[in-house]
Formats: sequence, C-alpha cells, structure tokens
Amino acid sequence: MGQRIDVNHLNVYYGNFLAVEDVNMHIEANKVTAFIGPSGCGKSTVLRTLDRMHEIIPGAHCKGEVLLEGKNLYADDVDPVAVRRDVGMVFQRPNPFPTMSIRENVLAGVRLNNRKISKSDADDLVEWALRGANLWQEVKDRLDNPGIGLSGGQQQRLCIARAVAVHPQVLLMDEPCSALDPISTLAVEDLINELKGEYTIVIVTHNMQQAARIADFTGFFNLKAVGQPGHLEYFADTTTMFNNPQNEEAERYITGRFG
Ligand SMILES: Nc1ncnc2c1ncn2[C@@H]1O[C@H](COP(=O)(O)OP(=O)(O)OP(=O)(O)O)[C@@H](O)[C@H]1O
Ligand SMILES: [Mg+2]
Repeated sequence: MGQRIDVNHLNVYYGNFLAVEDVNMHIEANKVTAFIGPSGCGKSTVLRTLDRMHEIIPGAHCKGEVLLEGKNLYADDVDPVAVRRDVGMVFQRPNPFPTMSIRENVLAGVRLNNRKISKSDADDLVEWALRGANLWQEVKDRLDNPGIGLSGGQQQRLCIARAVAVHPQVLLMDEPCSALDPISTLAVEDLINELKGEYTIVIVTHNMQQAARIADFTGFFNLKAVGQPGHLEYFADTTTMFNNPQNEEAERYITGRFG
C-alpha cells in the first residue's frame, strides 16, 4: 500500500537562497498527484524534499515537516538512506546504469541497499518489476544485454522497474516523459495508472494534458516574481483544477494566458 504524505510549513533553501516558501499540502495514498507551474517555481525542489534527495546537493536544506504516514522524515532519528529506500525516484532523463545489463539495472537499487538475494529470488524480482513496468514482454529474451541498448521509452520503463524493485511506498517522478515520444509517453502513463493501486505517486509535468489525464490531484506552484521564492499557489482535485479552478493565477496558467 502507498503511504500518505503531509507537508507542513516547508521552506527549502539552497545555501541562503530561499527557493520555496511555506508549502502546505496533503498528498493522498494510492493516488496520483501532479505538480505543475512555470519553470523555476520549485516543483523539482519540493519533489526532492519528499525523499530527502535534495540533501545530496551541497548547502541544500529545509525547514518544516514532511510526514510520511504521520512520521516526520526529518526527525533526528530518521536515516536518509532508509527514506530513499521507501521512496522511489524516477528522473527526467532515463538514466540506466550504462555498464549494466537490463537485469542488473533492475536489481541495482536492491544491491545498493546491501540486501543479499539468491539467484532465483533475483530472477523472480526482475520478472515482477519488469512486468510491473510493462516492459517484460519486450526484454525477457535479452535480459543480459546492456540497458542502454533499449529505446528511450523502454529505458524510462526500465528506470521505473528499478524504482519499484525496492518496493517503495511512494514513487516520485520528475517529468518522466519529457524525453519520450507520444507512444512511449502513453505507455508510461498507462503504467502510472496501474501502479497507483500500490503506490502513492507524485509526478512533475509541464504537460497539462498529461496532468489532466493521469492525476487525481494537482498542485499549481507559482512565483510572485523572478528572484522571489516559489510557493504552492493552489491545490485541488484535477477536475476542479482544469475545469473550474478557484484561483485566477491557476486559471491563467492552465489556459495559456500566463506571464
Ligand atoms: N542545485 C541547485 N542549487 C541552487 N539553486 C537551485 C538548485 N536547484 C534549483 N535551484 C533554484 O531553486 C529554484 C526552484 O528550482 P526548481 O528546479 O525546483 O524549479 P522547477 O519548478 O522544477 O523548474 P523547471 O520547471 O524548470 O524544472 C530556482 O530558482 C532554481 O534556480
Ligand atoms: Mg524541475
């Protein structure tokens, strides 16, 4: 089952620069939540705070709370490595490990977590994750070929398989389809739809149609002005966001009359 996420008074900094200010949001379990908004408003920044990934960036830190199923990810006794294990991340560009086979790519996260796993368990896991990522039929006869030999869309589904192989409770995706052609994009969207039965999914997208197609809820991030911190301007169920937004800025953005 996916886990719910509550974000309370979240401020995110890069050094002294306040990139995102006072975000408050409830992300429901087993639903898809999309983040939309203009470039630089902090969508990726907020997404990365949901698994403490931003802490890898020197100087990046945050204030406030991110509660995963009620437990604060930023509490003193929480190990960030364990957090990143419970929360999977898929990036904008498919990034399979170049020297690894398809099979080893799927297992990479599991191996990073130092989990000992038998050959037959590994085979089962590889098949399960690739089936879950809707890629099994296409690659089952060439699991030992390099992951980078796949098409872009296949590579992105391979990265999704790698993310789900560690059985995360939450799946974060930062513009996962922006480098893909329309057919691969639809394959990934179908997959997201299937996965939400088991995971809580948060996806950043610049594609309004995509948000409207796949998201249950949508958060619109905005900037007051260049150089100002980004903020969450409006959060609503996706139907309301796109058909009847109760926020002028959101409406202007969605209808393309922005800026
Ligand atoms: N690694 C970093 N170091 C310093 N500042 C950063 C870093 N990453 C992002 N920022 C700044 O934080 C702010 C928010 O950036 P972020 O990448 O989160 O925006 P975004 O909404 O994802 O934009 P885009 O739609 O272009 O991906 C911007 O002002 C950006 O310049
Ligand atoms: Mg971004």
